[in-house]
Amino acid sequence: MWGGRFAGGPSAIMREINASIPFDKALWRQDIAASTAHVEMLAQRGIVSAEDAAAIGRGLEAIAGEYEANGVPENWDLEDIHMVTESRLAELIGPAAGRLHTARSRNDQVATDFRLWVRDAIDQAKAGLMALQVALVARADEHAASIMPGFTHLQTAQPVTLGHHLMAYYEMAERDRSRFADARVRLNQSPLGSAALAGTGFPIDRAMTARALGFDRPTRNSLDAVSDRDFAIEYLTCAAQTSLHLSRLAEELIIWASQPFGFVTLPDSLSTGSSIMPQKKNPDAAELVRGHAGRIVGSLTSLMVTMKGLPLAYSKDMQNDKVPVFEAAGLLTLCLAAMAGMIEGATFRTGRMRAAAELGYATATDLADWLVRQAGIPFREAHHITGAAVKLAEQKGVALDQLSEQDFALIDPRITASVYHALSVDASVASRASYGGTAPDQVRARVAEARIALGQE
Ligand code: ARG
Repeated sequence: MWGGRFAGGPSAIMREINASIPFDKALWRQDIAASTAHVEMLAQRGIVSAEDAAAIGRGLEAIAGEYEANGVPENWDLEDIHMVTESRLAELIGPAAGRLHTARSRNDQVATDFRLWVRDAIDQAKAGLMALQVALVARADEHAASIMPGFTHLQTAQPVTLGHHLMAYYEMAERDRSRFADARVRLNQSPLGSAALAGTGFPIDRAMTARALGFDRPTRNSLDAVSDRDFAIEYLTCAAQTSLHLSRLAEELIIWASQPFGFVTLPDSLSTGSSIMPQKKNPDAAELVRGHAGRIVGSLTSLMVTMKGLPLAYSKDMQNDKVPVFEAAGLLTLCLAAMAGMIEGATFRTGRMRAAAELGYATATDLADWLVRQAGIPFREAHHITGAAVKLAEQKGVALDQLSEQDFALIDPRITASVYHALSVDASVASRASYGGTAPDQVRARVAEARIALGQE
C-alpha cells in the first residue's frame, strides 16, 4: 500500500510487531459500514464517479458476505483490517478500488470504526445491566419483608430486609447504566473526514457520513479526532466501575453460600463440584465475577498508560487501544449475564437469615431508640444503658428480648415491659420507615418506582 517510497519490504519482526489484524479483524463490520458511508458521500459530492462508487459498494457487500461466512483472513503483510479489506476489494473489482481511500486515512478510519464498536459495546453493557436490574427487582419484591442481619465491618449491625439489600445493588446498576449513557453522548461524533490529521482538500460532506453512521454530528477538530481515545477510556472507566459493583455482590454471594452463613444456595447451573470432595458445591461463577474485575480494571490501566504523554496526533502506540477494550467488553458481558443468572436462580434461606438477625444483638439500637422515645433519655445515655443490657445478655448467653423484666429494671428502672415490642427484628425493620430505609413498605415503594424506570409498568 505504500511501496513507492521503499526499496525493500519489512522484516519478519517488523511484520509481526506491526500487525493488528489478529485483533482488529473484530472491527470488520464497522469498517465496511464506514467505507460504505464514505464512498456514497464521495459519489454524492462528485469526487468519485457514480459508476465506481457503485462497484465499490457492491464489492464491500461481497466482502462482508465472505467475512460473515469464512471469517477475516489474517494476512500480516496487510497489517490491519483496513488494508485487508481494501486489498480484497482490489482483487474483486480492480483499479476502481483505489478510489475508496480518497479524502480519508487509516487514522480517521480506525478512529471511526473503533467509536462505532465501542458504541455497540456501550449499548450491550446497558442491556446487560438492565437484565440484572430486572432480576434484582423481582427478587427484592419477593423478599421485601424477609429479614436478615445488616452488617457494618461484617459484624451484625441492625436487622435489614433482603429486599432492601438487593435494591442497593439495583441502585448501583442504575448509576452504572447512566454512566454508560453519558459516555455514549460524548462518544457519538464522527471522526470520518478528519483524514490523516489535518482534514482534507476534497469537498467532502462530513455531516452526511456522520448521519449515515448514526453519529450526532462530525467531530470539530481533526487533530483531536484522530488522536484521542478518551471515548474508549471512558467506556473502560464505566466498565471498571460496573465490575467493582459486581465484584462486591459476588463476594457477598460467596460469603452467604458458605456453610457457616448458609444464607443462600446458588443454582447448580452456575456452580461447580470438586474432583476430590464429593460434598462440595463451589460458587465458581461468583468467584470469577469477583476475579474478572481485576482484569477489567487492568484493561483500563493499560489504555490509560498507553495514552499518557502521547503527542498529537496519531502514534502507533494507539494501535494497542483495541485489545484491552475487547477483553474488558467480553468479560463484562459474561459477568453481567452470570450475575443475573445467579440472582434469578438463587434460593435464599430466609429462615437462616432471620435466625442470624436474631443473634448478635442486632436490635440494640432499637432499645436505645426506645429509651430516647419512651423515657425521654438523651441518646448518648441511652446508648450507655443499652450497652449494659447487651453485656448482661452476653453474660447470660441470651438474646436481648430474653432478658427478664427484672433484669431490665435492674439496668434502668425506666425500662418497662413495652420495651419487648421494640426488640423484635420485625418491629425493628418496620420502624425504619424513613425515606430510603429498610422497612418493607419503603422497599415495596422503591420496587414500584424501579419497575416504572425499567419500563415494566
Ligand atoms: N492499524 C492501525 C491501528 O489500529 C490503523 C491506523 C494506522 N495508521 C497509520 N498511520 N499507521 O491503529
